[in-house]
Amino acid sequence: MKTEVISVDKNVDEEKYYAQAVEILRAGEVVAFPTETVYGLGADATNPEAVSKIFEAKGRPADNPLIVHVDSKKAALTHVQEVSAKALQCMDAFWPGALTLIMQEKPGTFAGNVTANLETVGIRVPNHPVALNLLRKLQLPLAAPSANTSGKPSPTLAEHVYHDMDGRIPLILDGGATEIGIESTVLDTTCEPPVILRPGKISKEQIEEVIGTVRSSSQNKTSVPKSPGMKYTHYAPAAPLYLIENEAGLIEKAIEYVQKKGKRVAVISETEYPTADFNFPLSMETLYASLRKCDSTDADLILASVENGMQSNDALMNRLEKAADHKWFS
Ligand code: TXA
Ligand code: MG
Repeated sequence: MKTEVISVDKNVDEEKYYAQAVEILRAGEVVAFPTETVYGLGADATNPEAVSKIFEAKGRPADNPLIVHVDSKKAALTHVQEVSAKALQCMDAFWPGALTLIMQEKPGTFAGNVTANLETVGIRVPNHPVALNLLRKLQLPLAAPSANTSGKPSPTLAEHVYHDMDGRIPLILDGGATEIGIESTVLDTTCEPPVILRPGKISKEQIEEVIGTVRSSSQNKTSVPKSPGMKYTHYAPAAPLYLIENEAGLIEKAIEYVQKKGKRVAVISETEYPTADFNFPLSMETLYASLRKCDSTDADLILASVENGMQSNDALMNRLEKAADHKWFS
């Protein structure tokens, strides 16, 4: 299959390209598109064959359910039942935006492989002109996980999608760099108090301002993860990644120690380390791109520098710890 990449936000004849994307999606194929968080790999959420192509293209385990994207609160409400007052308040406060709400699916609404046959479904209205335009023209709910190969960092540029999906999907809509850079906050509203299953740009504090107390899933560790995606490896670069505290010259010492063994070191951090073999920036917006850049070097080991202020950033720390598989350099 040839993968076409179309730059939509710079195009004069946009209508034609949206029509092409809609036609492909209606025919049960997969199209990658930008959202404000990361690029998504979209398929008609009511068509099980179309949805299975997402799992195939990503190499994603079938028990990890997908997020459904719709263009409005009104559209979301046609797909769910027994919606809590708090879920409704969240929709009003944060949609369109980077908050996915887990709710009770109306039985039979979505293809069974969207929800991994759970009774609940995660839905959000993305806050990106390309995603919204596509959804409005399509008039179908779009199941869309992040558009990366399963286990790899999520794509924040169309070229990341192309790298992972070339030859696997027919079309990528290129809307430039995504603004937020990490995936949406996932909030389970089917329990009381609601639980944050995945931290994101929309923080616990912001949600609590609207609906009162919510729990973080870390305070709620059970043997069976409530969010199935949480048990899988994520965002992993090819070389081993270690988190390291930025204090008392520890990073310089670590670089020297590793290099003495004849190995090359990449450092991801807010500041540059002149002795490192490679330096890449670290922030919510740049983390995934930096992890991918490490893969294009011959670094044997990657250090991610955790600054003092960073420890309180749940979303960034969550992604860093997963990418490092919780390894700290010592
Ligand atoms: O920002 C985002 O959310 C991006 C963009 C494309 O919208 N999408 C995304 O999707 O990150 P994905 O599939 O990579 O992550 C979905 C997460 C997984 O951790 C999954 O386990 C969880 O949401 N999830 C989906 N449906 C669920 C459900 N019914 N119950 C619990 N967790 C669910
Ligand atoms: Mg993902």
